[in-house]
Amino acid sequence: MMGKENFVHKGTPFAVNVHSEESLNYAENEFPVLDDDIFNVTYPKSGTNWMIEILNLIKYKGDTTMSNRVPIYERSPWYETIFGKEQVKALNHPRIISSHLPYHMFAKSFSKSKAKIIYTMRNPKDVFVSNYHFAHALQIFKEPKSLQEHMDNFLQGNSLYGSWFDHVKGWMQMKEDRRFFYITYEELQQDLRGCVLRICKFLGQELEDEAIDSVVKNSSFKVMKDNKMANWTTIPSDVLDHSKGSFMRKGVCGDWKNYFTVAQNEIFDDVYQEQMKDLNTKLFWDE
Ligand code: A3P
Repeated sequence: MMGKENFVHKGTPFAVNVHSEESLNYAENEFPVLDDDIFNVTYPKSGTNWMIEILNLIKYKGDTTMSNRVPIYERSPWYETIFGKEQVKALNHPRIISSHLPYHMFAKSFSKSKAKIIYTMRNPKDVFVSNYHFAHALQIFKEPKSLQEHMDNFLQGNSLYGSWFDHVKGWMQMKEDRRFFYITYEELQQDLRGCVLRICKFLGQELEDEAIDSVVKNSSFKVMKDNKMANWTTIPSDVLDHSKGSFMRKGVCGDWKNYFTVAQNEIFDDVYQEQMKDLNTKLFWDE
C-alpha cells in the first residue's frame, strides 16, 4: 500500500505519492496552457467526475465510445499530480484537464491564453460528508479518526488542497472573466439539461437535440454508477478499498442532514458566515 503522509506546499496540505514539490511547481510555473484547453476545476468532492463526464460527452457530441472505453480519470486527468504531466500529454484536443488547485497555485501561463475554466462548487456541508466517506475508502489518504476531528480540520482549512472557503473565494475572483464559468452541483441536480445547454454555450459548442439528450442521459448518476469506466471500480483496491464504500456513493443534495448534530451545524454556519462575508455572490445554498 502507498504511504499516507501529507506535506505542505505554500501553506496547503497535499498527499505524498499523489503530488510532489516537483509536480506542483511544474503545474504552476511550467505547464504550457494551450488556447483550446478546457479546465475542470473543483474543490475535491464537489462534482469533479460528474463534470468530466458531461464535458467529455459534449466534446464527442453525445457519442459514448470514449465514456465506455477509457477510465474517467484518464479522460480528464489532474494535471498537478505526479502522473498528470504525462497523462495530459496523451490527451487529444481540445484537452479537458481537471484540477483541484487553489487559484493562487494555478498555471501561470493561463493568464495569456484563451483557455477556458469551468469551476464547479457544492454546498460545503455535502462536500464535507462526501469527503469524510471518501477518506475512509481511499487508502492513500489518512483515515479520519472521527467525524468531529474531520470537521475541525475541514473548518480550519487543514484538509488536502486547503480550505474550501479559500478555494471558492480565490477562484471567484475570476467571475467577471469571460474565460471563466461557474456552476454548482445543486444546479446540475436541479436542471441538468439546462446546465448542459449553458455549458455548451460557454464552450461555443452547438449540439443537436439528440446529442444533448445523450449527454444528459449518460451523465446521470445511475448510468455513471453502472459504467465501470466512470465509477472508479477500475482503481486497484490497495488504492481505493471498494469494500469501504463506492466512489459513486449517494449523489444527492443535503445528505449532511443525516450526519450533522444541531451543534455541529451551528458551528459550521458560524464559520461559513464569517469566512464568506466578503464574497459578493450568492451561492445556491445561501439564504
Ligand atoms: P457523494 O459522496 O455525496 O455521493 P468528485 O467527483 O468531486 O470526487 O465528487 C464525488 C461526488 O459526486 C460523490 O458525492 C458522487 O456520488 C457525486 N457524483 C458523481 N457523479 C454524479 C452524478 N452523475 N450525479 C450526481 N452526483 C454525482
